[in-house]
Amino acid sequence: MKFETLAIHGGNIISDEKQPVVQPITLSTTFHHKEGSPTYSRAANPNRDALEQVLAKMERGKAAAAFSSGNAAGMAVFQSLQAGSHIIAPNDMYHGMRKQLEEIFDGILEVSFVDLTETENLKRAIKPQTKLLWIETPSNPLLKISDIKVLSSIAQSHGMKVVCDNTFATPVFQNPLALGADLVMHSATKYFGGHSDILGGALITKEEDSFWQRIKNVQITGGAVPSPFDCYYLTRSIKTLPYRMKGHAAHAGQIASYLTQHPKVEAVYYPGLKDHPGHEIAAQQMSGFGGMLSFLIKGDAYDADRFISRLQYFANATSLGGVESLIERRAGVEGPDTKTPQNLIRVSVGLEHLDDLFGDLDQAFEAI
Ligand SMILES: Cc1ncc(COP(=O)(O)O)c(C=O)c1O
Repeated sequence: MKFETLAIHGGNIISDEKQPVVQPITLSTTFHHKEGSPTYSRAANPNRDALEQVLAKMERGKAAAAFSSGNAAGMAVFQSLQAGSHIIAPNDMYHGMRKQLEEIFDGILEVSFVDLTETENLKRAIKPQTKLLWIETPSNPLLKISDIKVLSSIAQSHGMKVVCDNTFATPVFQNPLALGADLVMHSATKYFGGHSDILGGALITKEEDSFWQRIKNVQITGGAVPSPFDCYYLTRSIKTLPYRMKGHAAHAGQIASYLTQHPKVEAVYYPGLKDHPGHEIAAQQMSGFGGMLSFLIKGDAYDADRFISRLQYFANATSLGGVESLIERRAGVEGPDTKTPQNLIRVSVGLEHLDDLFGDLDQAFEAI
């Protein structure tokens, strides 16, 4: 089955005897005791089964676990490690995940944040108690690229598990499991949901081994699971994911080129650009470069904020992956201890007509 077909049919579990074409939403939290039926919705629900089935297929994994948010999915990985384990994570890790490691797991897990765009940095950071490598590529918000294949093989030769946050690329453009990672993590809130109205997260595994059993236990016993409604809407949104991603990537590529030519722009970060430092690796491990980009506007935070305030179609809001274009000055969102440049503007390029997006950018640049 080709990817587009899989996205449409891979999550359809029809349990109703009237055979609706679309799976109904099963709201019941409890089920008659019967062989093969779920018992209780925190442990399993038909809509979550359907979502997990299509997620596992899209990421070419053995199984998936759906969570109530991307952060809950990531936290389930950290909760599945033994206390005292050491983790290596990127120094520009998504700031919410970094906050978990620094604050919630302080005194429980040890972490080294390193620049994983240089594979030598991984080798230098490994300790006897290192159990996990966390990769995020392309990274948020600098769109840095890490080599999944090389990093995974180094980490696994030291007995570590490798998790890759694949939120920006989605399985449409990148399959970390096929490149050697053990687990894939997603904020399903982003491109999977695609309409900025569902919060969700997911983990997908290559093997149903003992580490996966620990994660399943955190999911089921910890209970940070998505509702049947959320699972239903995610499964529905995923049906259009391949076509949405093609549109997002085509638009982002053209806007990135436009920005590189603009006299009021200092730098553009998009892995599809030939002069992006990670372009060559991105071209090897991705089949498209995604819909996210960031750029440095000439000037300071004030100039960046003034430019953003003039835009009409790009909503000044956080998050990403919806059909509508979103824009924000990232340092303003990440807070006072951010390492992101103050004039960095992150764009989630939407599916509005490109003429309207270019027109909007033109008038905002002219106004500053
Ligand atoms: C790359 C990345 N990973 C994880 C998350 C966390 O996901 P959620 O907001 O669904 O908890 C985000 C959210 O912005 C993200 O951008």
